[in-house]
Amino acid sequence: MITIHLIAASGHPDRDKTTIQCQPGQSLMQAATAANVAGIEADCGGLLTCATCHVHVHEPWASQLPKPGPDELGMLEFTAAPRRANSRLSCQIQLTEALDGLTVDLPDKQH
Ligand code: FES
Repeated sequence: MITIHLIAASGHPDRDKTTIQCQPGQSLMQAATAANVAGIEADCGGLLTCATCHVHVHEPWASQLPKPGPDELGMLEFTAAPRRANSRLSCQIQLTEALDGLTVDLPDKQH
């Protein structure tokens, strides 16, 4: 099992940190939406065409993730909230045991 922490954006009505338990092999988006975490919309269901699964990944995990591919980098140009150096699309983050404790901030908007 992998423990993931998702922190709602400042001013978001569901501000508290949400902690979920996940299985390796899922994407972060799949795990979060299955747990009904508010703040990840994932309109395209992981097809890398919507950018509504945007998250900001905390260190040390951000540095441990594989670099975004060209398609993810392209879609990161279309996030509703400003893109940061640690912005990623959660549908492209494959969960592994090494990511146990992964913590991400959710942006204040996905649309
Ligand atoms: S779910 Fe649409 S780009 Fe990630």
